[in-house]
Amino acid sequence: MEQIQMVDLRSQYLKIKDEIDAAIHEVIDTTAFIKGPAVADFEKALQKYTGVKHAIGCANGTDALQIALMALGVKPGDEVIVPTFTFIATAEVIALLQLKPVFVDVYADTFTMIPEQIEEAITQNSKVIIPVHLYGQCADMQAILEIADRHNLFIVEDAAQAIGSEYVFSDGTVRQAGCIGHIGCTSFFPSKNLGAFGDGGALFTNSDLYAEKIRSIINHGSKVKYFHEEIGVNSRLDTLQAAILNVKLKYLDEYAKARQEAAMYFISIPLKLMPVNVKHLKISFH
Ligand SMILES: Cc1ncc(COP(=O)(O)O)c(C=O)c1O
Repeated sequence: MEQIQMVDLRSQYLKIKDEIDAAIHEVIDTTAFIKGPAVADFEKALQKYTGVKHAIGCANGTDALQIALMALGVKPGDEVIVPTFTFIATAEVIALLQLKPVFVDVYADTFTMIPEQIEEAITQNSKVIIPVHLYGQCADMQAILEIADRHNLFIVEDAAQAIGSEYVFSDGTVRQAGCIGHIGCTSFFPSKNLGAFGDGGALFTNSDLYAEKIRSIINHGSKVKYFHEEIGVNSRLDTLQAAILNVKLKYLDEYAKARQEAAMYFISIPLKLMPVNVKHLKISFH
């Protein structure tokens, strides 16, 4: 019996093996392992794909969230409003920076945060809202933007599971997940919509100011080599991963379509026809 993978990374690779192998070999041949040209190429392609002004690669989606909060200059004790239902990384980085997570519930159908509960959770210490776009489904960004605007709060979108998803505003404006708030974050964990061959992540922003700050924090708080103006982290996107992602980005819409078709197939199977272990399936969230 053939085991069906949740994401079949092997056949995904075999379909574009020649392109991927060539991209990997180019990095090896040039030995441009750190901050090689493939990183800038991928960031440019990502900007074009998402329509955002700045796309900045980093080491993983968890770091992206941490760096976004650091770039906004929040201080220990500041409150960050997050959904109760997400992968741990969203709340983990809040705790790591000694900020206070304030949890709000999610809708039972979309698993995204309930805007009315955000409003109730706001105090004088609130600084940031982190909407999480889960399973490719966007949070109610129109309502969240309106609340953030009224209370002067930052929005950091967690789009780790939603790169390529589109949010449609009531006036018909369409924006990509992660490119709506002050800063957006995504993950290139191998099983994500756009998966690397290891860890990877990116931050999105339309602000030149935040982009400059993010680029510095990612690289040990440095803009000029060996000059360190602030405390940062080492979280550059690996050049090999960037080269691979640059190839796979071209196929992202195709991958998303295949996932949607698989989901529709499973939804269309009447529950009574499913094998017992599928009926009692517990969903895992990574
Ligand atoms: C919603 C969410 N946020 C953040 C992350 C963290 O991303 P990474 O695994 O790249 O650190 C993930 C990945 O699993 C995620 O699903």
